[in-house]
Amino acid sequence: MEAIAGLRGKYLEQIASAADIEALESVRLAALGKKGEISLLMRELGQMGAEARQTAGPALNGLKSEIDAALKARRAGLEDAVLNARLKAEWLDVTLPGRPRPMGTIHPISQVMDELTAIFADMGFSVAEGPQIESDWYNFDALNIAPEHPARQEHDTFFMHRAPGDNRPPHVLRTHTSPVQIRAMQAQGAPIRVIAPGRVYRMDMDQTHTPMFHQVEGLAIDRDISMAQLKWTLEEFCRAFFEVEEVELRFRASHFPFTEPSAEVDIRCSWEGGQLKIGEGKDWLEILGSGMVHPKVLQAGGIDPSQWQGFAFGLGIDRIAMLKYGIPDLRAFFESDLRWLRHYGFASLDQPGLAAGLSR
Ligand code: DAH
Repeated sequence: MEAIAGLRGKYLEQIASAADIEALESVRLAALGKKGEISLLMRELGQMGAEARQTAGPALNGLKSEIDAALKARRAGLEDAVLNARLKAEWLDVTLPGRPRPMGTIHPISQVMDELTAIFADMGFSVAEGPQIESDWYNFDALNIAPEHPARQEHDTFFMHRAPGDNRPPHVLRTHTSPVQIRAMQAQGAPIRVIAPGRVYRMDMDQTHTPMFHQVEGLAIDRDISMAQLKWTLEEFCRAFFEVEEVELRFRASHFPFTEPSAEVDIRCSWEGGQLKIGEGKDWLEILGSGMVHPKVLQAGGIDPSQWQGFAFGLGIDRIAMLKYGIPDLRAFFESDLRWLRHYGFASLDQPGLAAGLSR
């Protein structure tokens, strides 16, 4: 019995002073584990005489339960302490304001492309695309620009390399979006109503020219489309895009190999104190080329010119972006200067459309 009292004192004391859960676990093993001191004693009960067992048995059982209960209580206490320490250390103030993160902006060209796509979509035009590296057939021949035609030189074309000995005409970086007319007609046939916004390339560089710039091509083919619909479509587009009630467009007779008749279109505007106003004043600004699609171009696109006719236009996107948002130098568009991008860029949630950009 003395031995039992000694064990009780020893283990209760070790349990009380166990500093953490691991220490407590070694106390448990030493006392109640398979080879623990108390477990071994209980095993010895079998070899005792009946009398001795009658007193030792209940005493040992009592000791075992008491130590077990003490271990459980201490374990719960230690676990609480661990949790409290974590709660204290990992405390976090959810009422603090969030850390600001630097946000990019939408480039004015991307914004304008979204705006004009939305406007033309409202008029029933879908978007067509073509490659920026184009065959000379799509970029020139199919558009009725013969090999000796001066337009090939006028366009200041970038030519791709051919392998030595390969005498086929070289591919070109497309000089305009007009080849997408051919690709779209081949793919969809008539009737067709598409726009094709995208990058184009010409060897040219000054305040109003960069070697890469953007155009949007328009094409509408049906049984009886005329210049009147071309005029309405362009006026409607300009009214929506420049956000003015009235626009006045001037159609000047011109020449493009892929249209007959052809017209260049100017928009009425005024410059007052460095401020550009669209729709009023006595100045005119050229914004696009257009015309009735040439029969040979329809044929190249696989469309029968005795059945179908329509209009096409090609509009300079960079030019109208400069006009709408008052951006004076074209080259700055493509210099990736962060200060410029922050100033002229758009918030990512700006909706493209009629009111776009007004909140800046
Ligand atoms: N492709 C011409 C250019 O880049 C612009 C143009 C003129 C496109 C008349 C057209 C058009 O579709 O009908 O200068």
